[in-house]
Amino acid sequence: MTVFRDKTKIQKHIAYYKAKGSTFGFVPTMGALHQGHLALVREALANNTICVVSIFVNPTQFNNAKDLEKYPRTLEKDVELLETVSKDIVIYAPTVADVYGTDAKAEHFSFDGLEFEMEGKFRKGHFDGVGTIVKRLFEIVKPDQAYFGEKDYQQLVIIKKLTQKYNLPVKVNGCKIHREQSGPAMSSRNIRLKSNYKMAAPFIYQTLQAAKLKFGTKSANEITAWVENQFAKHKLLELEYFIIADVETLQPVKRKTKTKTYRAFIATYADDIRLIDNIALN
Ligand code: PAJ
Repeated sequence: MTVFRDKTKIQKHIAYYKAKGSTFGFVPTMGALHQGHLALVREALANNTICVVSIFVNPTQFNNAKDLEKYPRTLEKDVELLETVSKDIVIYAPTVADVYGTDAKAEHFSFDGLEFEMEGKFRKGHFDGVGTIVKRLFEIVKPDQAYFGEKDYQQLVIIKKLTQKYNLPVKVNGCKIHREQSGPAMSSRNIRLKSNYKMAAPFIYQTLQAAKLKFGTKSANEITAWVENQFAKHKLLELEYFIIADVETLQPVKRKTKTKTYRAFIATYADDIRLIDNIALN
């Protein structure tokens, strides 16, 4: 398994295999890999000759310096885990300077309003950082296809918009949320949860499932009020937002329409750890 730290070297490597007819599937990550990430890698390998995985904790998408500092960095373990999946994986684990030079700054993007909803409201500038890094990584790796998880559903929709706006020649695929047996969406942040918060975390997905059941008969406002009340009573988990939104525009639903598709999105704090999740409603 080759780990590249330098963009010119990985570009040469990719160009060599492209010239021989290999196709490339790309899975961008921030490391601390888990089975959710590996599911994306397996999907990429099933549909391409070679899978490139980037492992890079991108400083420009963190609006909270402490969150960036505490983000787990486990490169050796990540490489071992990827080796268990396949030898046909190329890893790009650059330094900040390799990607950004001396000035790690985000570009500003317009994603036609998608960036102002949910995560964009609570993490100012987050999607400028995500757009900047994903666009750069696409330019370096030049993949045929890229794979993103529905766990970060808003990110997936925004990356699709990015490729459309900039005419980037890459097919963006969404992959289902991988969950712990007890329900929570797998996340690199879960390993930081203290045991009482770990035990509380399944409440988030249980509430989403209950909201889904109510969706047939109750209005979005009624469901939202119910969820807010559930969390108000909860001793450990703090709700940041619960929103039922249109899957394409990400606009909060005012009145349900039969022809549209909706998801419920949630962000909570467990101690100082922010957890997000979502569920398809119809
Ligand atoms: P990261 O949080 O490491 O996630 C990398 C990819 O794995 C994302 O597409 C994310 O949606 C997916 N993923 C994470 N947990 C998942 C789960 N439980 N089930 C399915 N997919 C899951 O998302 C990022 O990194 C960054 O923002 C990045 C796109 C790499 C840009 O820096």
